[in-house]
Amino acid sequence: MLRFTKKQHLFVLLCVWCLVVNCSSAETEESEGGPMEKTEKAALYSTVQGFVGDSWNGSYLFPDPCGWTPIQGVTCDLFDDLWYVTALSFGSMRDNSLACTEIPVIRPQLFELKHLKSLSLFICFTSPNQYLASISDEKWLDLSKSLETLEIRSNPGLIGELPSFITSLTNLQSLVVLENRLTGLLPENLAKLTRLRRLVLSGNRFTGRIPEVYGLTGLLILDLSRNFFSGPLPLSVGGLSSLLKLDVSNNYLEGKVPIELQFLKNLTLLDLRNNRFSGGLTKEIQEMSSLVELVLSSNHLEGDLTGIEWRNLKNLVVLDLSNTGLKGEIPWSILELKKLRFLGLSNNSLGGKLFPQMETKMPCLNALYVNGNNISGELKFSKKFYERMGRRLGAWGNPNLCYHGDEIKNLRDHAPFGVNQCKRMKAVTLA
Ligand SMILES: *[C@@H]1O[C@H](CO)[C@@H](O)[C@H](O)[C@H]1NC(C)=O
Ligand SMILES: *[C@@H]1O[C@H](CO)[C@@H](O)[C@H](O)[C@H]1NC(C)=O
Ligand SMILES: *[C@@H]1O[C@H](CO)[C@@H](O)[C@H](O)[C@H]1NC(C)=O
Ligand SMILES: *[C@@H]1O[C@H](CO)[C@@H](O)[C@H](O)[C@H]1NC(C)=O
Repeated sequence: MLRFTKKQHLFVLLCVWCLVVNCSSAETEESEGGPMEKTEKAALYSTVQGFVGDSWNGSYLFPDPCGWTPIQGVTCDLFDDLWYVTALSFGSMRDNSLACTEIPVIRPQLFELKHLKSLSLFICFTSPNQYLASISDEKWLDLSKSLETLEIRSNPGLIGELPSFITSLTNLQSLVVLENRLTGLLPENLAKLTRLRRLVLSGNRFTGRIPEVYGLTGLLILDLSRNFFSGPLPLSVGGLSSLLKLDVSNNYLEGKVPIELQFLKNLTLLDLRNNRFSGGLTKEIQEMSSLVELVLSSNHLEGDLTGIEWRNLKNLVVLDLSNTGLKGEIPWSILELKKLRFLGLSNNSLGGKLFPQMETKMPCLNALYVNGNNISGELKFSKKFYERMGRRLGAWGNPNLCYHGDEIKNLRDHAPFGVNQCKRMKAVTLA
């Protein structure tokens, strides 16, 4: 017991010693280390105070913000032996940033941080206000030389429009304006942001047409999903030759799926679900040979599945054409999709039979939905297949379809849901 307290005593002493040494080394670091322009420091304090609240006293709490008293969410870098702020991140979800006050203010000093590369505001604006409208055009210009990343996410209080002057931030590589309540049209000259690699404007309330995107040849991700965009998908999307992901799902887009999409040779995701596209399955989609996910569900496409060389889409893992007004039959050629895991063909007007060879020729198949069609005849999959698929085999809602009973009479829970057993005398005699 006594030895233990002695040990504790020693430990405390050691800590005090550590603190002293730390403090003295920090002091020398402050005098020797890279200094900061007074104006830069003041601009930082004021900017942070605007977001965090007036009671936050930066000069008192963080006398050396780029040195030994770092501020959460603030990153600095050296330029000609002086420290400058390069990244700012506010919001309650990022574990390493300060939470915003109830009514944050974007102070003009933010735009004096001349090496600011990245600004991120995450769950920062919660009470409704047109925060972005308060920023003048000149202020945006001040940031245009340095800013590469602008991320404004999950701000239910962020209302108003996306200011057109945002397109003067010509160094932007990533513009993410996700899940806010922004409304109105997108700036017409978005294509001025020629260095963009990621453009995400998903989950707002933007309206009107999607502007042309000529020249954004470095763009890798274009996500405009979950808005109120209408009109056609601009043909210039076909010129985004580096594109990996194109998601315009959940809008009111209409017209034919542009044949220009065939030029997107590196595209892995094409998601057009929940729009008003029409005019059939564009044959040219077969040219997008990198596609892994093709989701066109809930559109007024119509047409059939036979016009497409499915074998060209060898990498396809997800194919969802549910609710698209498809007619005709499921072609044998669809069995060439060897990597397919999800095939969604629900709620169409497909007739004909379901090939039992799907089980063997598509070894990865893990979900198959053909419910709500007019598929007929007998389902002849193996017991193993029904067991593996369970409810992920959706075959209900096909009045002329039944399953081959004697093959799978021990199935119990694994009989295809909502499908009747075939009435066949032959089956009984065979057993
Ligand atoms: C911050 O604290 C310092 C030292 O306590 C004080 O002199 C200064 O007035 C305070 N500034 C603000 C803005 O509260
Ligand atoms: C497509 O991807 C390949 C392989 O990653 C790459 O070499 C090529 O540059 C890409 N094409 C475009 C137009 O970005
Ligand atoms: C198919 O239609 C039914 C009934 O209208 C609906 O509940 C279901 O969500 C639809 N499924 C798909 C995948 O569209
Ligand atoms: C459904 O398919 C059967 C043939 O199996 C056909 O006789 C019937 O007319 C079809 N029904 C509809 C609504 O197309």
